Amino acid sequence: MNVTLFGLGYVGSVTATGLAVRGHRVIGVDTDEAKVATINAGRPTVVEPDLDALTAEAVASGALRAATSAAEALADSDLSVVCVGTPSAGNGSTNLTFIRRVVTEIGRALAGTSRPHTVVIRSTVPPSTVDEIVVPLLEQASGRRIGSNLQVAMCPEFLREGSSVADFFDPPFLVIGGSEAAAAAVRELFGFVTCPVHVVAIRSAESVKYASNAFHALKVAFTNELARLFRLLSVDSREVMAVFVEDRQLNISPAYLRPGFAFGGSCLPKDVRSLLHLARMNTVDMPVLGGAMASNDILVRDLADRILQAVDETGGGNRRVALLGLAFKHQTDDLRESPNVELAEILIGKGLEVRIHDPVVAPAKLSGANLQYVQAKLPHLQKVLHDDPAEALLGAHVAVVSCAQPQVVAAVLDAAPPVVLDVDGRLAPLERLAGYQGVGW
Ligand SMILES: NC(=O)c1ccc[n+]([C@@H]2O[C@H](COP(=O)([O-])OP(=O)(O)OC[C@H]3O[C@@H](n4cnc5c(N)ncnc54)[C@H](O)[C@@H]3O)[C@@H](O)[C@H]2O)c1
Repeated sequence: MNVTLFGLGYVGSVTATGLAVRGHRVIGVDTDEAKVATINAGRPTVVEPDLDALTAEAVASGALRAATSAAEALADSDLSVVCVGTPSAGNGSTNLTFIRRVVTEIGRALAGTSRPHTVVIRSTVPPSTVDEIVVPLLEQASGRRIGSNLQVAMCPEFLREGSSVADFFDPPFLVIGGSEAAAAAVRELFGFVTCPVHVVAIRSAESVKYASNAFHALKVAFTNELARLFRLLSVDSREVMAVFVEDRQLNISPAYLRPGFAFGGSCLPKDVRSLLHLARMNTVDMPVLGGAMASNDILVRDLADRILQAVDETGGGNRRVALLGLAFKHQTDDLRESPNVELAEILIGKGLEVRIHDPVVAPAKLSGANLQYVQAKLPHLQKVLHDDPAEALLGAHVAVVSCAQPQVVAAVLDAAPPVVLDVDGRLAPLERLAGYQGVGW
């Protein structure tokens, strides 16, 4: 492909060279004349292992050159790759000035031409940027409409400085946000990679990058936070974490990374509280772990607020709420620290008429600490618990569904309450109901 690449910094320098040595004809564009001259002299603009030889090879073969003018570069181009910086502004927001400028330049250069062109945003941009900023600017400046001869895709970059060349040729996956036609162009561009390709909504593609970097940041902070406490307890955190990462079933795995409801049960809250107590005793601040507890509490309160708002919107005419699922997860009757019990307690306290069904929970069978917990939180559980999900749903304005049992799903479909809150995320059949809402999607 004939490719124009904007921004010859850390990402752009590696990407331009990598695409050129894999058979594309690449013109790199940068406003910085020194960077343009550096590339044209066969040298990369950044220091990265293996990049010098590849850049020299790409420039010597004629596959890569650089320019300061977009108009010249775009004349014969099939595809633009945008790798300009998106730095933090003073208030933490993302400065999109360079993105706006480049997209407008691309649009202007395309105006009056009809050669099909795909614009690929590789820079990290906040969710909605492509839809709300890139597309309007591009359409306005080019006089074209996104469709047949103009496509836009979001394709975030995951390379790491220090190993960027190796990462570029062997990424974990290729994430493409955009139409099938836009995705086809990006697939052709990266035809040399063997990783999985995920074509998703543009906003999802924008967000995967943020989710990834946020998670990396969280992991580093989490590990170092634990290490600060463990050191004071004469624990070698290197040994702990070396074993910790060996667990690929629960620790380093998709487990606990599915959007849904708050954590609960007899272990997670108790053990996090215990660590926070140890931290206080040793005057160690643990804001990440403390934040996890606070964030979990907010989730329950937010859901309660959504339910109360939905009920308020009926003008108080229908205060009936069905809770389908009471235990903290499926297939258990352990109610200790279940966020659903917390939710029921808040809603009953606010005067709503709450009816509950859980296929596994039978009050007569509860015992020990489990029974004591329920007696303290929901003393009248017997009265609000229904064996039949249809009974719990009778006349309900809101159904909160955290239980994927087929008989529960069937009952919700049958009752079709005006508001159905899915707090499980695996209740696809409910999505056909007009009142369906996801707790976090
Ligand atoms: N650095 C990384 O490791 C990394 C990894 C993945 C994603 N990203 C993302 O990629 C993007 C680029 O990051 P970077 O580290 O390469 O930035 P950088 O600052 O090193 O490079 C950006 C380049 O864009 C150029 N530029 C600015 N305006 C321009 C214009 N109008 N026309 C042409 N060129 C222009 C600048 O002169 C500069 O050379 C950012 O959104 C960043 O968040 C970076």
